[in-house]
Formats: sequence, C-alpha cells, structure tokens
Amino acid sequence: MIDDAIITVKELSKRYDGFAAVEDVSFDIKRGEIFGLLGPNGAGKSTIISILCCLLEPTAGRVTIDGFDVEKNSNEIKKIIGIVPQEISLYYTLTARENLTFYAKIYGLSGKTMKDRIEALLDMVGLTDRADDKLEGYSGGMKRRINIAVALLHNPRILFLDEPSTGVDPQSRKRIYDTIQDLNRQGMTVLLTTHQMEDAEKLCHRIAIVDKGKLIALDTLNGLLKMVGETDIIQVKAKDIPTEALDVIQRIDNVQKVSVDDESMTIELVQGRELMARIIETLTASGTKVESIQIKEPDLETLFLHLTGTKLRR
Ligand SMILES: Nc1ncnc2c1ncn2[C@@H]1O[C@H](COP(=O)(O)OP(=O)(O)OP(=O)(O)O)[C@@H](O)[C@H]1O
Ligand SMILES: [Mg+2]
Repeated sequence: MIDDAIITVKELSKRYDGFAAVEDVSFDIKRGEIFGLLGPNGAGKSTIISILCCLLEPTAGRVTIDGFDVEKNSNEIKKIIGIVPQEISLYYTLTARENLTFYAKIYGLSGKTMKDRIEALLDMVGLTDRADDKLEGYSGGMKRRINIAVALLHNPRILFLDEPSTGVDPQSRKRIYDTIQDLNRQGMTVLLTTHQMEDAEKLCHRIAIVDKGKLIALDTLNGLLKMVGETDIIQVKAKDIPTEALDVIQRIDNVQKVSVDDESMTIELVQGRELMARIIETLTASGTKVESIQIKEPDLETLFLHLTGTKLRR
C-alpha cells in the first residue's frame, strides 16, 4: 500500500450470477492523483467505479475511501465524492441552470450560496452563456459538462468520472480535460475510466489497464510504454487475407506475434522498419492484396495488443 493513498482497493471481485465481471483487482490511488482505468468494452471499468462510489456491493475484497469502508461507511463517503456516470443523468426539458438548481437543493444548498456555486460551476465548464437553454438543444459534450458541474455541487474531494469523453466533440473534450486538470491542480483526486487511450495519455498520472475483469498492468504512461520494449507494430490494410499469408509472416525471424481481422493484419516484431519491404513482398507473393502498410510508434494501443493479443477499440 502506498503511504499517501486516499483510495485502496484490495482483492476486489464482483460476480453477476457466477460471471466474474471483476476478478481479484488491487490498486491504490494517491491523494491528488489523476488515475485512469483503461480498457475495452466489458472490461469491468463501470463495475469497479460503481463499487468505489458505493452504488454496487462487492462480492469479495475491501475498498476504502479516505479511510472509510465502502460497505460500512457509505454515508461518509458520499459526502466527499462526486460522481459523473457513464449515462448522462439530467432533465433534458429543463435548462442547465434549472438542472443545477434541482440537484443543488437535493444537496441542501440554498439562497446566495447556491446561486454563487451554480454560477461558478457554469463558468468552470464554460456554459454560462447557454445556462438558460434547455438541455434538449445541447450537444453530447455540453450535456456531459453540465453533468460534471452537477457532480461538483457539494464540493467533493474526490471525483469519479465514468467515460468522461464518450460521445463528446473535440471542443467539449478539450474543455473537459482543462476542467479536470484545473480541479486536480486545486487538490482534487480524480478517478476516470476510459476506453480511449488519448484520455489516459493526456490526463492520467498513472494508468491501470483492465481487460476481462482483471488488472493487467499499472504504471505511469512512460512506465507502461517501456513494457512494450523494442517491439514495433506494423499494420497492413488488406481484405481477405489468406491463411498462408499468416503462416509465412509468422515464419520471419523477427516476428513475435501476428493477428488478423476482416480488413487488416497486425504484426509485432523487432526492427520493423527494416523489414517493411520484405513483409509487403511476402504478403503479395502469398496472394494478399495489400492496400497500405504503416509502422506505429509504441503507444497504449500497442501495449494493449502486446499484453492481450487484441485491439483496445472493440
Ligand atoms: N447488472 C449486470 N448483470 C450481469 N452482467 C453485468 C451487469 N453489469 C455488467 N455486467 C457484465 O459485466 C462485465 C463488465 O461490465 P462493465 O459495465 O463493468 O464494463 P465496462 O468496462 O464499463 O464496459 P464499457 O466500456 O462498455 O462501459 C460485462 O461483461 C457486462 O456485460
Ligand atoms: Mg462502462
């Protein structure tokens, strides 16, 4: 356990009727850290975050938030955490200001304190000038920004965001990134889930990669990228790749792993650049119609492929 951990997750498991959605997951989050859970659809990210938010009971394991146990002290925890769920939970027939007022009253705010807080949050998410428009006319990204403002009404110390950039246009995404980073600079601990490597790369101090309910790697971005080591990734675009092509590529000495889907072949190998010409020749000779070939610098996508043999975006 790290000394300055504000969140500790120990041997956490969650089963739905025997199906293991989360299996023996352990990690700590430091106070003041932006921590990311990165993984494809169905990896177990929302399940983990829901348990941490006291919305779902674990099957096994122990989770503490600022010293409080999620199963015993959910009332204390709810006061110090803010939650931005994966599904937007707002009233589309109300304006942004009306939505914020509705939730602020639930949190017991009123009068000038409430008004000031709402104005400050509208400003923070950059929607002051749209505050009196109904949400039905908002873009996905603008709704997400209002949902973030709602999560901050009671001034939490820890913010949980489940897929903050899903369905969000680039402009809103930048605003959301800026908001998260500003909050973090002011001391907020942040846990976010994402299946987009850009979120993890741009925002997170440390990243836990999850797949099929298991935590398969956890480190800083640089630490994770080092795990890929000397491996290059070559992506070949081609339709109807014959199985012989897979065999001949696998037989090249430097090739470590090959995978094929409907429209591409992905090759992990060392000294990829030197071997590109040979790969095109070999594929063409085996009857593959190569449309394009590309070499990629190691990134989180490469690492995910390296660790699991499948692509991150599924
Ligand atoms: N209430 C439930 N009952 C049964 N199975 C469930 C339930 N909720 C989730 N699951 C299953 O548990 C697994 C993990 O789901 P979860 O929603 O945590 O994944 P996720 O990583 O958040 O995926 P996504 O990227 O699609 O949001 C999936 O296989 C899902 O089908
Ligand atoms: Mg999810």
